[in-house]
Amino acid sequence: MDVNAATHLLGGLSPAAFMRRHWQKKPLLVRQAWPEVAPPLPRPQLFELAAQEGVESRLVQRRGRDAADGRAWQVRPGPLPRRALPPLSRAGWTLLVQGLDLHVPAARAMLERFRFVPDVRLDDLMVSWASDGGGVGPHVDSYDVFLIQVQGRRRWRVAPPARGAEPTCLEGAPLKLLRHFAPTLEWVLEPGDMLYLPPNWGHDGTAVGGECMTCSVGFRAPAAGELARELLLRLSEEDGAPTLYRDAGQPATTQPGAVPPALTAFARQALERHLADPLALPRALGEILTEPKPSVWFDGRDGAPATGAALQLDPRTRMAYDERHVFINGESFVAAGRDARLMRGLADDRRLTAQQRRCLSAGAAELLEDWRSAGWLHEVAAVSAPGRSQALIPERAARRVAR
Ligand code: SIN
Ligand code: CO
Repeated sequence: MDVNAATHLLGGLSPAAFMRRHWQKKPLLVRQAWPEVAPPLPRPQLFELAAQEGVESRLVQRRGRDAADGRAWQVRPGPLPRRALPPLSRAGWTLLVQGLDLHVPAARAMLERFRFVPDVRLDDLMVSWASDGGGVGPHVDSYDVFLIQVQGRRRWRVAPPARGAEPTCLEGAPLKLLRHFAPTLEWVLEPGDMLYLPPNWGHDGTAVGGECMTCSVGFRAPAAGELARELLLRLSEEDGAPTLYRDAGQPATTQPGAVPPALTAFARQALERHLADPLALPRALGEILTEPKPSVWFDGRDGAPATGAALQLDPRTRMAYDERHVFINGESFVAAGRDARLMRGLADDRRLTAQQRRCLSAGAAELLEDWRSAGWLHEVAAVSAPGRSQALIPERAARRVAR
């Protein structure tokens, strides 16, 4: 992707300019950003998906007219058999299906247009289907989100982040809905229109004039405390016998309540030891960032012998790299030289041509075979030289919306 080329998707801005001017800073409404956009799957198939185990879905309904009454809102988590969904003719309900990209090739393909943002920031593509008047109420997300109107019309009302205090939530509601919502912007989005919202902007989308489908591409941002916890956990996984604190020199104490300074020093060393290796932190970080969502599992090898054909990452596979490592689905590998270049290409393009595959060292080829066995990547009949044409695309656990 040429990140300096102006694109319709971003209203004539280049991805580079969009990232400078809007990303994490201010909303962008783009009329006809994606004029040819189509629903990634028709409504009946979406409803079927929502009925499946392992697919994250929710039904949101508002009973009664008073949206400011928390008790008026109802949320039912999936799986949602068809009989759990209200009739289409009933106004005011919404079906949310998260992680559509994990299940539907066309949804995965939609994400390709947003790869000017690092993959490790991506969460998923969520689809919402709403009957007339349906919506999930005013809320804020901790996510950057591109809201793509794919069918019908939706009115979005948007408010800048509250200054100072944390926004308060509506009491009694099963979703984190805003108690005070003072929108300053309002648009009705038509099919093909797109709205980008940075985190913490209040928003409320309501279907107008009939059924409505919106795809939202969400980008997660790690929270410092949570990331530190996960890093420490991973860094502290002991390989070998645990190193126990020893205090053979501890004298008899007259102050049994006091923490021995030697124990404090031991604790400090225990932490420092994990960071002593300069590669330990980036390694743990890459592993954490490529950990698949908890709901994801891979089908192992189909038994077919390797043919040497082109390879394509499974839509559910998360792959990334840094200067020294290649990360895939929560695992890390040290890579250098030509192998590293090819592996990075695989992460960037999500595919490797048969010719590129032949250039791998024996060790790297064996690794790829392991990944193929695990179902992390697949052989595909033909893949042309890397490009980002959508047609080539075959195709974690916070929640967006009031999470
Ligand atoms: C929706 O599409 O109904 C909600 C999406 C969002 O608010 O992030
Ligand atoms: Co939202």
